[in-house]
Amino acid sequence: MADPLRSRRGPRDGPGAPSLTEAGRPLDPARLLDRLAGEPLVRDIVLLESTGSTNDDARRLAADGAAEGLVVVAGRQTGGRGRLGRAWHSPPGVGLYLSIVLRPARPSSESTRWAIAAAAAACAACRALGAPAATVKWPNDVLASGRKLAGILVEARTAGASLADLVVGIGLNVSHAERDFPPDLRIPATSLRIESGASVGLERAAAEWLRRFGPLHRMLAAAQWDPVADAWLALAPAARGARVRFAAPGAAGSDLERGVTDGLDPSGALRIRRDDGSFSLVRDAESVVAWEP
Ligand code: BTN
Repeated sequence: MADPLRSRRGPRDGPGAPSLTEAGRPLDPARLLDRLAGEPLVRDIVLLESTGSTNDDARRLAADGAAEGLVVVAGRQTGGRGRLGRAWHSPPGVGLYLSIVLRPARPSSESTRWAIAAAAAACAACRALGAPAATVKWPNDVLASGRKLAGILVEARTAGASLADLVVGIGLNVSHAERDFPPDLRIPATSLRIESGASVGLERAAAEWLRRFGPLHRMLAAAQWDPVADAWLALAPAARGARVRFAAPGAAGSDLERGVTDGLDPSGALRIRRDDGSFSLVRDAESVVAWEP
């Protein structure tokens, strides 16, 4: 089967694409839509110079009835949020801060699949944008040399057992210099600029992600999980065959077990094979306390 993460090229990505001159330039919705020609996911773009959190904005708009494909993108965030209520440092002009409203007619139990898809698309985009060694760390961190390049925050509203809407937010470190990161980060951070030494524009970064994420979203909306899981696994080397120490669901905090990673189950959970041959499913990143590749 064709690689679902191979991006179809947009009209502005051929030789001579203005990637050098556009670095540092604010993202322009019309130019982004131009780059996305042929990718039907994005219907409308709201550009904000500054906001609290694009995920909060997109969730509000979704609750007010916004259609699938509405993108909110901001030049900076004053209250950018990561998983588990952590802050996502969002200084002006250097990062991609983008959220998209989706309305897949699927059970709410599948929402993690979209985080997996978004991370695979982000990792593939980072590889195409000058970080060839980027990998995904389960479930949805994109790392290069052990430092974080991008993170994904998926937030769902449910209607009974179904999804009412999903907001998928991506924070991608594009042209940060080392001094642009706070010193006390839990996972040290890096940017495309630090990794490649080259400048990448925010429109190009957004387009590379959206063009990869769109096809994966359509697969998930059509209940096709396997190709999405395979695309993710191809970018997540530690998700198969790595020795880990982990807290099984319900275990006391200090009660750690050992096992070997064995890919994803259909809910997006990490399968771990214990030394006795039994399996455990781990659903949150914090339950895996040590990775020994
Ligand atoms: C994580 O790694 O913890 C997820 C980080 C997600 C950050 C993005 S930036 C755009 C969107 N708006 C937010 O407030 N968060 C997400």
